[in-house]
Amino acid sequence: MNERASIKAYLSKCAELTEASLKQSVPNSWDVPVQLREAMQYSLEAGGKRLRPALVLSAAEAVFGRTATFDAALPVACAVEFIHTYSLIHDDLPAMDNDDFRRGKPTNHKVFGEAMAILAGDALLTHAFHLIPQAARQGGIAAEAALAIVEDLAKLAGAPGMVGGQVADMLGEQGITSISELEYIHLHKTSDLIVFSVTAGGRIGGATDKQLELLATYGRNIGLAFQIRDDILDLIGDEQKLGKKTNSDVQQNKVTYPFLIGIEESKAQVERLTQEAKAAVLDAGLLAPDRLLEIADYLVGRDH
Ligand code: IPE
Ligand code: IPE
Ligand code: MG
Ligand code: MG
Ligand code: MG
Repeated sequence: MNERASIKAYLSKCAELTEASLKQSVPNSWDVPVQLREAMQYSLEAGGKRLRPALVLSAAEAVFGRTATFDAALPVACAVEFIHTYSLIHDDLPAMDNDDFRRGKPTNHKVFGEAMAILAGDALLTHAFHLIPQAARQGGIAAEAALAIVEDLAKLAGAPGMVGGQVADMLGEQGITSISELEYIHLHKTSDLIVFSVTAGGRIGGATDKQLELLATYGRNIGLAFQIRDDILDLIGDEQKLGKKTNSDVQQNKVTYPFLIGIEESKAQVERLTQEAKAAVLDAGLLAPDRLLEIADYLVGRDH
């Protein structure tokens, strides 16, 4: 990939590579009920920023020094997008945030019904664990690295990770009064999958333990900043650009960063977290840290 491409062009290229790979992720030869396949593809192919796959690819590149790692990283990039997409389908269900629009289209349950939306989410989640070993089988990374990536994913997307964060979010809908409780929710529901993305990319690129730790710090901070920005956009964003309805948090009585500390202080917090994230990447002594640094900056003022 051209090193001089703008960060926007770089992210588009990552999204393009991911989307080509996503399309082929569930083998056509598998006997899958037609409606299930359609429901899975509907949400997977609806678009979205493909941020987490881009983080897998760019972390692998940052550690390895060049893009030769992309073949190994693509199955993992797709795996994290499968998990993320499942989490959005379930997040939008009436029992959770009860949202009608996602990625510019009616939510999965609005089109396929609640039962099929739940099952499409289940199938996307399960398939992620089929994809990771393909990084070893087809991409040439060591089987030991693939095992570590599977373990990380099970933990960071699971009960102590993203699912735990979603539970805390749901239980806390009205009762949260402290920033530390809210930080716990955001770190788990959102940062953990972002931590997974950058550390998995790091493992593929051959990162040392120390580098993995610093990549995790980067992921934790940009993840928290990302969710605070999401909370801000829920209040001041443009529905057209976001592809989802604004004021969802207000309607669901969510306690958010802007609710607790106001919009201006929330924006300042996004800035501070971004600086901390960049400092961790700079400390890690990576061969090509630039894209990770640029992504952190790019996310600060995102409008979708
Ligand atoms: C939305 O994630 C859910 C959050 C964790 C804030 P994204 O903003 O990355 O959604 P897509 O993938 O672009 O649709
Ligand atoms: C969603 O957070 C986090 C996960 C799906 C794990 P939100 O509920 O704030 O995401 P949006 O605003 O619906 O995209
Ligand atoms: Mg939610
Ligand atoms: Mg939601
Ligand atoms: Mg939100």
